[in-house]
Amino acid sequence: MIDVYKINKLPTPFYYYDLGLLRKTISALKAESDKYGYRVHYALKANSNNEILTIIQQAGLGADCVSGNEVLRAVENKFSEIVFAGVGKTDEEISTAIDNNIFCFNCESVQEIVVINKIASEKRKVAPIALRINPNVNANTHKYITTGLEENKFGINLWELEELLEKLKRLSFVKLIGIHFHIGSQITDLSAFKSLCLKVNEIQSWFVSHKINLEHINVGGGLGVDYHKPDENAIPDFKSYFALFNQFLEVRPGQKIHFELGRAIVAQCGSLISKVLYIKNGINTNFIILDAGMTELIRPALYQSYHKIENLSNANEAQLPLQRYDVVGPICESSDCFAKALMLPETKRGDYFALRTTGAYSEVMASQYNLRNKAKAVYFE
Ligand code: LLP
Repeated sequence: MIDVYKINKLPTPFYYYDLGLLRKTISALKAESDKYGYRVHYALKANSNNEILTIIQQAGLGADCVSGNEVLRAVENKFSEIVFAGVGKTDEEISTAIDNNIFCFNCESVQEIVVINKIASEKRKVAPIALRINPNVNANTHKYITTGLEENKFGINLWELEELLEKLKRLSFVKLIGIHFHIGSQITDLSAFKSLCLKVNEIQSWFVSHKINLEHINVGGGLGVDYHKPDENAIPDFKSYFALFNQFLEVRPGQKIHFELGRAIVAQCGSLISKVLYIKNGINTNFIILDAGMTELIRPALYQSYHKIENLSNANEAQLPLQRYDVVGPICESSDCFAKALMLPETKRGDYFALRTTGAYSEVMASQYNLRNKAKAVYFE
């Protein structure tokens, strides 16, 4: 539970980060991934604050970037192995990444590879590439964060591979070093990863039959977290996750397995702290109007996602009567709503609220809509 006395002088809303929990999470991750010699890249898109990145970099993780600016942020933070993914890399971003000698481009189309080859040739450099292959595996998650189905825009389709390999023979400024997959995010049913492993095994056999040995396989990220029980399950079950890959993924001699995790590393260490501006009576419910809204946390509006909401100011007053509330933000949009018909102890103006599990995809997705100020990040040990 967040200590209200630690925060009650700070201007709201703000992002609260528990760096102690972040460190513990990374230690748990490293303990499990090191068992199998797995290489984990942190997906900067989940949270790219320098304070967070410093801790992750010091633990020895690589970086997974999806824009030129993320590549530069990873370089500034001295990350070693940097991968650069994304369906729409611009020429300028490709150039930046080549200049910074990144570990690998995760390529999403044949045309993109041709462009990388051309830009690398102008610099007289050879760019290492992995093919992001669309495995057509269902991640059983929200449709906006499912990425590994044929209907999604991501990756190269299996039927394009034969022609692609022919083309690669004529491109001498790119070097194929791996294959890459990412089926989606917030995946809580691990069987989706088993399906991925089985598909990767098939695809790998195809490459072997074409006499191509891949130095690495990157299986992406996507491990989900428990938004409903952030305290009970503060650290994701990395043990089962990595053990599953160890059990089902066929690894060739000398081959390295890479992962790209974002949410599982940072989600639980963050909370969005907000103050109650007003309580307003509606027809069927009462409204708690917070000073944080979809500008600070867009996930409920965009994916109908759940974030646990706690009133920090009356946490010890269990005897208070429960009332039904919609918890909303101040933005001029009806979708600016964090929860509907929530039963909460009686709430008053000035109470502090925590929206939990906002370490990932919250601050990075913030906007200044309605010309609002950007909420600050505050770090606690
Ligand atoms: N690798 C690739 C290629 C990705 O596209 C992503 C996430 C990751 C790795 C990291 O996935 P993670 O381990 O964090 O699940 N804004 C959404 C999530 C979008 C995820 C985009 N790609 C949300 O708030 O749920």
